[in-house]
Amino acid sequence: MYTFTNQFISNDKNLEFAEATMMGPNAMRVAEELASHLNIKENMRVLDLGCGCGLSTILLTQKYGVSVFAADLWISPTENYERFQSIGIDDKAVPISVDATKGLPFANGYFDLLFTVDAYHYFGDTAEMLPSLIPFVKKGGYIAVAVPGIKYEFGENVPDEMKPFWNDEVARTIHSLDWWKELWSREKGIEMIDIREMLCCKQAWDEWLTGYHPGLPFATVVAESTKMMEAENGKYYNLIQLIAKVI
Ligand SMILES: C[S@@+](CC[C@H](N)C(=O)[O-])C[C@H]1O[C@@H](n2cnc3c(N)ncnc32)[C@H](O)[C@@H]1O
Repeated sequence: MYTFTNQFISNDKNLEFAEATMMGPNAMRVAEELASHLNIKENMRVLDLGCGCGLSTILLTQKYGVSVFAADLWISPTENYERFQSIGIDDKAVPISVDATKGLPFANGYFDLLFTVDAYHYFGDTAEMLPSLIPFVKKGGYIAVAVPGIKYEFGENVPDEMKPFWNDEVARTIHSLDWWKELWSREKGIEMIDIREMLCCKQAWDEWLTGYHPGLPFATVVAESTKMMEAENGKYYNLIQLIAKVI
């Protein structure tokens, strides 16, 4: 099947680039599925929040031609600028350092779309986060989020095979579709457009974990994630997308 992601990684140099920049399930693949549920036009201004090394930013700029503010906490803007130059998207992607929990340095109503892949769960699990982000998106614009999740809330009953991988931070960040739905349904400034399990979950995880080889960054995370995905064996984990319109 033709997808931008398939096309991109069919080139050996791009594949090497993608494998070196994946920080979780293939963000380009996940971004492509999330974006397919949106009507993205070339003249839009997009905030890619928690962009990491920018695989989702590449998808947005190259597939849709949009201008992207590529905002992240852990990855420095200089590193992303160099990466964007190397891939030829530095005219479309502005790397910027932000901590979403400390407020964003943008004008109200600045973005047509706030887009975030495999990052929102780190900072978006509070009742305050969504209302703090909404003002940056113009009325009629969209907020689109893809996060790793679980098929149901474990609560106190963490399945035995998941216990080695379950700690307070995971319990804080990894939730079910119903949990996210309940959190977002409290917010009056949006209309919920879509919430669903994503189709690309297994493929995006496989592309990250099987593409890994020693020498790439994030070695410890990959080793631990490989054990975790073997243990869960398709039973518990999913990827969840949420799309809301700002009203
Ligand atoms: C697992 S990485 C995923 C990165 C990228 N989206 C991807 O899928 O490859 C999670 C990202 O969330 C970002 N992040 C975590 N907390 C954040 C915060 N408070 N504000 C902005 N970004 C944050 C980190 O900087 C990190 O790059």
